[in-house]
Amino acid sequence: MTISSRRPVGTVQPDREQPGKSPLRSRPAWALLAQHFQRLKDVQLRQLFANDPARGERLVAEAAGVYLDYSKNRITDETLTLLVQLARECDLEDHIAAMFRGDKINVSENRAVLHVALRAPRDARIMHDGRNVVPDVHAVLDKMADFTARLRGGEWKGRTGKRIRNIINIGIGGSDLGPVMAYEALRHYSDRTMTFRFVSNVDGTDFAEAVRDLDPGETLFIVSSKTFTTLETMSNAHTARAWLLTSLKDESAIAKHFVAVSTNAQEVARFGIDTANMFGFWDWVGGRYSMDSAIGLSTMLAIGPDNFRAMLGGFHAMDEHFRSAPLERNLPALMGLLGVWYTDFFDAQTVAVLPYEQYLKRFPAYLQQLTMESNGKHVTTDGVRVDYDTGPIYWGEPGTNGQHSFYQLIHQGTRLIPCDFIAFARTLNPLGRHHDMLLANVFAQTEALAFGKTAEEVRAEGTPEWLVPHRLFEGNRPSNTLLLDALTPVALGTLVALYEHIVFTQGTIWQIDSFDQWGVELGKALAQKIIPQLESASEPKLEHDSSTNALIRRYRKSKRPEG
Ligand code: F6P
Repeated sequence: MTISSRRPVGTVQPDREQPGKSPLRSRPAWALLAQHFQRLKDVQLRQLFANDPARGERLVAEAAGVYLDYSKNRITDETLTLLVQLARECDLEDHIAAMFRGDKINVSENRAVLHVALRAPRDARIMHDGRNVVPDVHAVLDKMADFTARLRGGEWKGRTGKRIRNIINIGIGGSDLGPVMAYEALRHYSDRTMTFRFVSNVDGTDFAEAVRDLDPGETLFIVSSKTFTTLETMSNAHTARAWLLTSLKDESAIAKHFVAVSTNAQEVARFGIDTANMFGFWDWVGGRYSMDSAIGLSTMLAIGPDNFRAMLGGFHAMDEHFRSAPLERNLPALMGLLGVWYTDFFDAQTVAVLPYEQYLKRFPAYLQQLTMESNGKHVTTDGVRVDYDTGPIYWGEPGTNGQHSFYQLIHQGTRLIPCDFIAFARTLNPLGRHHDMLLANVFAQTEALAFGKTAEEVRAEGTPEWLVPHRLFEGNRPSNTLLLDALTPVALGTLVALYEHIVFTQGTIWQIDSFDQWGVELGKALAQKIIPQLESASEPKLEHDSSTNALIRRYRKSKRPEG
């Protein structure tokens, strides 16, 4: 599909009539990119590498311990110049400054977006509504560190005097995905005498399986919810309360076995958690940008305060790079712009994130919320329907497992899937030849995707003619390779901040609000309406569509089998 033939998906209509092209498509750089795309769309990476033997050393950038090789992208120097021009025409640098300044860039919620303050050093000054928020951030971090020391040191005990050995984080979305991902990613640094579990789903199985082998007397629940009103989290928190009290039988046990992470002290108190055991954060931290706030309490309990602060240092290093590096050498800006190039000009629908590091197995899931809840928007900040594609679908699995599953489609399918390969030079678990074999696979995959295998090469292997089309690889499939030293807490921080700022870059180009999430509201509201219809003893009056009505009736019938 060419960009000029793009249409709104399905039957969604523009909220406002839009005469002519949108401001983005009217930018000079956009038109130049569209022309440039026509010239480049059939150019092969083989050709680009042959024309420039130094390409693989030239099209790289490095910052905060992250080496980015972007040479295997379908770009030339001109593409980069035009993409950077587009970024400048969209005032990316001013937008970055506005975020760091605490401007209310989350326009639909009228909020500042200051997750960068969560990792600012103690002596930094970041103002929000006339107040420097950095001391507030460090006060919470200190409180978390104090609690962590008391709990890990055995001073904080359960109601029956037993030491706490099990931590269960109850939360969902940003109050779950970051903590789970960080726990898995940094397991190597965690206290192995403790058990960490994460309950998110309102499906009772999640809670039942999480606690089935645990002693309530040794278990602490962290109820993590920015709003403290989320259906799933509050249901699980009430179930946890009942589970605990069934065994410990004494309301006073709640104080020893429940802590809260929230912005909503009133609701925390209403639930019965002493607000002295509450760790706060602020409305200027979006849920999906909160793993380095108090939402990371389970992470700190697992890896200790020093490692947690090291992780914050990694975030901050990438923040500083994003804030100050020229766009031409700015990792998040470059990766963000490459994403725009594929999404809007090549019509790529998805991005595969492929960490060759087992500890990052939940990283793609984490990125799904970060990227898709942020940039899955169809109107600009002014409320006008966009006439270009916005956030792509992010997905992925750790290598090498993916290679034996979906890589077939990436190599030989009909869709263009830009890939981010993430690898580490040093493993945390050196075992014979494993790491060399792992890294050989990373390099092999990026090489195979970019350069493929021609029909001549396939024939030269003695392949019969009828089999040649099956065995050839077209190549020309783009990828980025991110190479870091080792998966330390610092490295995790830099990696997460890198993707946060990629999202920011793209949201700025697309002129959307990357920090709201209105798209989750309708389903939530409808579920609230349907719950009593499923639970009522008498037949409810159903006024949904015929499909939903029939499904509700069938469910009601099936859940109470006759006899
Ligand atoms: O439903 C989406 C969402 O609002 C996410 O943005 C958020 O991370 C998640 O729900 C959980 O919200 P809370 O932390 O308020 O429970």
